[in-house]
Amino acid sequence: MRCRRCRGAAVIEVRRHNAAFCGDCFERHVREQVKRAIRDHAMLEPDDRVLVAVSGGKDSLGLWDLLLGLGYRASGLYLGLGIGEYSTRSGDVVRAFAGERGAELIEVDLRRDYGYDIPTAGRKGSRSTCAVCGLSKRYVFNRAALEGGFDVVATGHNLDDEAATLLGNTLRWQTEYIARQFPVLAEREGMVRKVKPLYRLSELETAAYAFIRGIEYVVEECPLVAGNTQLRYKEVMNALEATSVGTKTQFLLGYVERAAPLFRDGDGPPVELTPCERCGQPTTARFCAFCRARAQVLGERLGPAERDPGTERQTAEEMSSEVLPAELYGAGRAG
Ligand code: AMP
Ligand code: FES
Ligand code: ZN
Repeated sequence: MRCRRCRGAAVIEVRRHNAAFCGDCFERHVREQVKRAIRDHAMLEPDDRVLVAVSGGKDSLGLWDLLLGLGYRASGLYLGLGIGEYSTRSGDVVRAFAGERGAELIEVDLRRDYGYDIPTAGRKGSRSTCAVCGLSKRYVFNRAALEGGFDVVATGHNLDDEAATLLGNTLRWQTEYIARQFPVLAEREGMVRKVKPLYRLSELETAAYAFIRGIEYVVEECPLVAGNTQLRYKEVMNALEATSVGTKTQFLLGYVERAAPLFRDGDGPPVELTPCERCGQPTTARFCAFCRARAQVLGERLGPAERDPGTERQTAEEMSSEVLPAELYGAGRAG
C-alpha cells in the first residue's frame, strides 16, 4: 500500500475515503478534517480561550493535542468521576499529558467538590448511572468554563459517537434531541458555546492519530457502560459499515449538512432560562437538573419545586445530544 499523498509506504488505510496514508500524511489528513470542521461551523475564533474536556481517552487527548498544534489557547478540564481504578488511571494520564506539554489543566472532582461520585449516584438516585454521569459532566463543563472565563468548551465526540447517538434519536423520532445534535451549540446566557471538532473523524482514525502521535491514553472503556444503549447502536452501525463502507459517514454528515435545518425549524419557541436558586446556573425550573439530582443522591431537600416539575422544560444543556432520552429519564440502569 502506498500513501495517497506522497506515495511513500502507507501505515493506515481509511476505507471510507478509499485512501491509505503514511504517518505524516495521515496526521495532516486528521488536521485538515479538524480545520474543516472548525471552519464550516465557525467553531473557534483564533484568540478564543478554549476549554477542552479531557477524559484520558484517545479522542479528547488527541483533540487537545490537535488544538494546541493548530495554535489555539487550549486548556484542559478533567472531571474526576470516582469510578475506582479507571478514574485514577484516567487522571494520571491526563496530568502526564498536560505536564509534558506545559499546558494548563483544571481539575474538578465530584466527590471533593460536590460530595458524591458516579457509582454512588447510580445506586442512590433515580437516574441511570450513565444519565447522572452525563448530566454531571455537562454541568461541570459549563460551570468550569464560565468560572474560568473561557469562550468555548470542546469535547472529543467522534463520528462513531455522533452517528450512534443520531441513530438512537432517529429510531424514536426524538425530534427535539435531533435538532440539538449539532457539531456546535451556540452560546446563550449562562451557557458557553459547545463544539465537537472531531465529528468528521471515525474512532479508528482518532485511535490511529493518538498512536502515531505517541499519546499515552486509557484504552479501556468505563467499566460502568457495559450493555449501555449507545454501545449497541455503535455495534449496529459497525455491522452496516462492514458490508457497506461509508454508511456511517453518509448518515452523520448527511444529517449535519442537509437534514439538520429541517429539524431546527420545528424546534418551538425558545425556552426561558432563570438562575437556579441553589447554584445560579441557568434552568427552566427553580432548581437546575444537576442540583435536583445531587440533592436526591445526598438525601437533601431543596424545596417544593423539587417535587413539582410544573412548567419545567429541559434546557438545551440538559437535553444535549450526548445522552439518549431513555438514559436521561433514567429508564434502565447501566453497569
Ligand atoms: P463520553 O461522555 O464518555 O462519551 O465522552 C465524551 C466527551 O466528553 C469526551 O470526548 C471528553 O471530551 C468529555 N469527557 C468525558 N469524560 C470526561 C471526564 N471525566 N473529564 C473531562 N472530560 C470528559
Ligand atoms: Fe459515565 Fe462511565 S463515564 S458512566
Ligand atoms: Zn443548580
